Amino acid sequence: MSPYHIQKALSLLLLMICLCSAEQEKFLRGGNQSNSTSIESQEFSLLTSLSQRMKPQPILYNTSTSQPLTHQFYHLHHMKSGGTSLSSWIRCGSSRADPHIPTASLSECSQNFYKMCLSENKCRERFDTSSLMNYCSPLAVVNYFGWNNHTDDATASTTRTRAVTMMRHPVHRVWSMFRFQTKSCFKCKNLTQVYRDIDEGNTEEYGSGVCLPQLQNHITRNLQKNINVHELDQIELSDEERVKDAIDSIQNSFTVVGVIERLQETIELMSYSFPWLAEEIEGSDKTCPFPHSNGSPSNNRCLNGKHWHLPDEPDEETRKAIEEHNQLDIMVYEAALQHFELQKVAMVMDDTEDME
Ligand SMILES: *[C@@H]1O[C@H](CO)[C@@H](O)[C@H](O)[C@H]1NC(C)=O
Ligand SMILES: *[C@@H]1O[C@H](CO)[C@@H](O)[C@H](O)[C@H]1NC(C)=O
Ligand SMILES: *[C@@H]1O[C@H](CO)[C@@H](O)[C@H](O)[C@H]1NC(C)=O
Ligand SMILES: *[C@@H]1O[C@H](CO)[C@@H](O)[C@H](O)[C@H]1NC(C)=O
Ligand SMILES: *[C@@H]1O[C@H](CO)[C@@H](O)[C@H](O)[C@H]1NC(C)=O
Repeated sequence: MSPYHIQKALSLLLLMICLCSAEQEKFLRGGNQSNSTSIESQEFSLLTSLSQRMKPQPILYNTSTSQPLTHQFYHLHHMKSGGTSLSSWIRCGSSRADPHIPTASLSECSQNFYKMCLSENKCRERFDTSSLMNYCSPLAVVNYFGWNNHTDDATASTTRTRAVTMMRHPVHRVWSMFRFQTKSCFKCKNLTQVYRDIDEGNTEEYGSGVCLPQLQNHITRNLQKNINVHELDQIELSDEERVKDAIDSIQNSFTVVGVIERLQETIELMSYSFPWLAEEIEGSDKTCPFPHSNGSPSNNRCLNGKHWHLPDEPDEETRKAIEEHNQLDIMVYEAALQHFELQKVAMVMDDTEDME
């Protein structure tokens, strides 16, 4: 056997181990242990559809006009989760395409622009004619602009728009957010104090923007398809319904769900499904390594203009406060880790099918 075949055999073995794994079974069944035969076939069909979804696809062009097709790809961007790096990487990868790929973005952090886009519908035409989009907003907003699927005029068939997102452990993400905006958002208070103010309803001084929502189950909110796009932080569903909606998005809305703590594998998965994202591609001298962008400021100006040093990791008390206020995000992140493993299997599964 050649090394190539040995590797294939190992991949198959891995696939079988995964299929039998009790953890996976429990996850897929939502904790119900009573019917294991149906679960194996259920998992197999889930893997098969995932491997179909993840199949490599180039940038698509209209064969008669040579223009890139619209609604090809979007990035659902979460703050402080490696999203800025992922966006630059996508920009670099797509910049190698010829003709040029029309790109647009929408961020709820640019509040005036966001409100204008939603109230006056001024941006819709621009979005409708774009091929790539960066959405720093909930998934419901993607759907609102009709970006979750795409109808091919020629064949009248509707397909799901290919999409990526990047997940990060809620404690790391919130701590990073706090270090990033210590002064402008959080008034140089410590994070346990900020949470105490939230719990006691003393929130005026933090303003009404995205600062405080960022600290409380923000990723669950971003992954909700069922949300009022005009009042993003008005919670209308129960916790259970929110988590269910978000986990459904993780499992069904994206071509690849990345995890920043598993960056190398994430890059492999994304470059597999989107070959134009690979660091090096044929026909271009431009290389696109995954960058590290948007770190914490070196001077947060909290101590009379000087830097208040904050450690890389929160202390125990702060960690507990973050966890208490992000229980839904923790569940969603765990589901994302499970899904991440399935994606890895789905990727090699596709390869092995092709071999037969
Ligand atoms: C577990 O599965 C069995 C058999 O499919 C079903 O009858 C039962 O209602 C399920 N229980 C839960 C809690 O989903
Ligand atoms: C388990 O699932 C299989 C396939 O769906 C079904 O035929 C069988 O009756 C189920 N067994 C039980 C105990 O529910
Ligand atoms: C390609 O462009 C032509 C001319 O604009 C248009 O009629 C056709 O529907 C386009 N095809 C697709 C698949 O978008
Ligand atoms: C396309 O998206 C719209 C809006 O979310 C949805 O109502 C429709 O069912 C989707 N169509 C398909 C075929 O997925
Ligand atoms: C946070 O600040 C409050 C009020 O200033 C103080 O009582 C508390 O000890 C601080 N907590 C930590 C972990 O530094």
